[in-house]
Amino acid sequence: MQKTKKAPAAPRKKMTSQQKEDLSKVFEDGLKDMYWAEKYLVKALPKLAKASEDEELAGAFEDHLAQTEEHVSKLEQVFELIGKKAVAKKCDAMEGLGKEAESVMEEHESGPARDAALIMAAQKVEHYEIASYGSLATFAKVLGNTEARDILGGILDNEKDADSLLSEIAESINETAAE
Ligand SMILES: [Fe+2]
Repeated sequence: MQKTKKAPAAPRKKMTSQQKEDLSKVFEDGLKDMYWAEKYLVKALPKLAKASEDEELAGAFEDHLAQTEEHVSKLEQVFELIGKKAVAKKCDAMEGLGKEAESVMEEHESGPARDAALIMAAQKVEHYEIASYGSLATFAKVLGNTEARDILGGILDNEKDADSLLSEIAESINETAAE
């Protein structure tokens, strides 16, 4: 990508109440999307753990399951903070990523290569979550809801940690898979 000189950022105008309302709607829709996604992952993670040959990897999926259950209740707290009912709206992206993981389990026999493929599938999920929670935390901040921002920022940190752990495990598994 070509580097272009960045013009100094113009001072932002204060949001009108209509703009704030519009952003609140985007925020709420994003929360519903992730609420569906986290609930979906609660069902998917045990399958990933079971399909992992490597014990450390299986353990990482199990640990992340406990965290994911917490994320569901943390999202419920955020819905409460904005005075809305916790509603899940189907997240097509997460369903697609889940299907990819399912086909990894169908197409490969248990072993280091399948473990490596499972990590790749799981990291795609983590990156989707990191992008989503990064934006949601920013929306909460812009909307002046610091409590919601802190909760979403906390979830974001968990997802980043999960992603780094998968990268670490991948290093040793990829070596074994290549042997
Ligand atoms: Fe999560």
